[in-house]
Amino acid sequence: MRTGQDLYRKAKTLIPGGTQLLSKRPELHLPDNWPSYYSRAKGAEVWDLDGRRFLDMGFSGIGSTVLGFADPDVNAAVSKTIDAGSMCTLNSPEEVELAELLCSLHPWAEMVRYARCGGEAMAIAIRIARAHTGREKIAFCGYHGWHDWYLSANLADDDVLDGHLLPGLDAKGVPRGLKGTMLPFRYNQIGDLEQIIREHGSEIAAVSMEPMRERGPEGDFLRQVRSLATKAGAVLIFDEVTSGFRKTCGGIHLTFGVDPDMAVFAKALGNGFPMAAIIGRRPVMQSAQTTFISSTYWTERIGPTAALATLRKFQKQKVHEHLIRMGTIVQEGWRRAADQAGLPLTIDGMEPLSHFVIESAFGEAPRTLYTQLMLEKGFLALNKFYSMYAHTEEQVAQYLSATEEAFSSVARAITEGTVIDRLQGPAAHAGFKRLTA
Ligand SMILES: Cc1ncc(COP(=O)(O)O)c(C=O)c1O
Repeated sequence: MRTGQDLYRKAKTLIPGGTQLLSKRPELHLPDNWPSYYSRAKGAEVWDLDGRRFLDMGFSGIGSTVLGFADPDVNAAVSKTIDAGSMCTLNSPEEVELAELLCSLHPWAEMVRYARCGGEAMAIAIRIARAHTGREKIAFCGYHGWHDWYLSANLADDDVLDGHLLPGLDAKGVPRGLKGTMLPFRYNQIGDLEQIIREHGSEIAAVSMEPMRERGPEGDFLRQVRSLATKAGAVLIFDEVTSGFRKTCGGIHLTFGVDPDMAVFAKALGNGFPMAAIIGRRPVMQSAQTTFISSTYWTERIGPTAALATLRKFQKQKVHEHLIRMGTIVQEGWRRAADQAGLPLTIDGMEPLSHFVIESAFGEAPRTLYTQLMLEKGFLALNKFYSMYAHTEEQVAQYLSATEEAFSSVARAITEGTVIDRLQGPAAHAGFKRLTA
């Protein structure tokens, strides 16, 4: 039964690229054999179009469903809002309540704007920073979405070189006039940012970065970033679209004791319902009033309802403690399984957003084989594990025991040189690379 793959083939004739998000393309995981579509998802369980049941021990809704799929508390709140009217001529009172809650979780922040997706929320933050400073250049580190301001980083002097900075992200269609506005710096390499500030300090509108992606800041790195941004008169923006609400109830910057001027949240904020927030200091946020930032569906009521229900549950259940515990168990389990199997494995990422790389001469093929073997055992398993509150210790134990067997098979296939032969389809395509890796 291959209903999902058949539908995906049809989708590619109707939808360019087949999906709306790069990370949901089956070619990135298990070309020709990924289930591709779901009929139902609950907790950590997923049913595909052929009624097969899987445990999602991989991407977990691409990191959005931090509580689990179809969380009963969030769904109950959203259902009430649907019945009460999810859209209206007047505004949603939940917007104000959520703004108060986000500011109380982040005492340095005083005002909030909303959007529905991470990339557009980052575009808003950048627009506000440019309006506030009257400057155009952005020093950046990390992934910030698909909009022109960010992708212009990949415009080179010679268009043959376009795309070399952030491999995997093409910049066709981005106005070449934006070339030179994006200045990249590497994580934990303060010298990069020092040089940018030395050469362009008075032109920098914002220093925009993910406060953590793989490993945390070394020494005083974040504090030095803070002080360089302040000295240059630039707005410091922490992109917490993915890092937020994983290791604490709020931005991960709270755990490092360094406050930005703006922080941006999406993904986990609505537990799968579209919701994004830009929080910031009052003088910076007020600059939103000097430009035009406005959209009809930023006013609908499901997003803030879902966010309030998600954050209340997060606070009440101390969800981050569970996320960290599950991630720690998985990282330790991967290490044990790899050692037993003699599989060379590099493990990275904060515990709730863990991933691994199988070191071999076969590129993406070994991880493709792992995903293929795990799918046969009933798991949606990739070279990553994003924890959800719905993941139980028992599910993690089942997953790790299946991983032990799969790692042995992959190790054997690498030694015998049969990795490609054992794949039922092509090897997975590589995704894009980040500066925070
Ligand atoms: C750090 C970061 N910023 C921005 C985005 C873009 O968010 P979205 O996909 O909701 O537009 C992502 C998505 O992965 C992200 O990880």
